[in-house]
Amino acid sequence: MWKAVSFAVIALLQLANSKMCWEECSGLNVLQNVDIHGCRRRSTYPGSLDFRCKGMRGPPCTVLRGDQVELDLTWLDNGHRNLTQAVHWQSGWMDLPWVGMETEICKYVNDGKSCPGFGDPLKGGLSTYKFPIDILSVYPAGSYNLKWQLIDRDAPSADGQGAPALCFKFAIRIM
Ligand SMILES: *[C@@H]1O[C@H](CO)[C@@H](O)[C@H](O)[C@H]1NC(C)=O
Repeated sequence: MWKAVSFAVIALLQLANSKMCWEECSGLNVLQNVDIHGCRRRSTYPGSLDFRCKGMRGPPCTVLRGDQVELDLTWLDNGHRNLTQAVHWQSGWMDLPWVGMETEICKYVNDGKSCPGFGDPLKGGLSTYKFPIDILSVYPAGSYNLKWQLIDRDAPSADGQGAPALCFKFAIRIM
């Protein structure tokens, strides 16, 4: 009985964990989980809900223009001051800024407990970031590899531009 129950729970977790394919940018190793709630169709394989990721390779998050989906991250946060975000489309020949993304994002960190702050010691030092992504009608339909960074702009850095707090890549398909 309990074996059956725990097996079912594990099967569910595996499904939940494999919802979106992503990979962390090299250098940092802080991301615990990345997901997007509200993607339309995660699998391009008919009849198969589950799929495997190979880094960011796998079925993309599919959205329609006009949708709002929610990015949901947890990361190991040893302390941040003032966070902003930078999103780029890795077009293959250069990284282009992805337009329309808010830059004042402290209100989406740890349910609005804002900046400065740090990860919850009761949750292993993890912070959360829940950001509503508006899929603007100006985005041309297509598949995009996005590179998403949160940047601590008050962190000490050589160029005074701050330092990345986290960085990951994933694929989105806009229809
Ligand atoms: C973060 O920095 C920006 C730009 O310097 C500033 O406008 C904003 O008020 C700061 N936010 C916090 C929470 O300190």
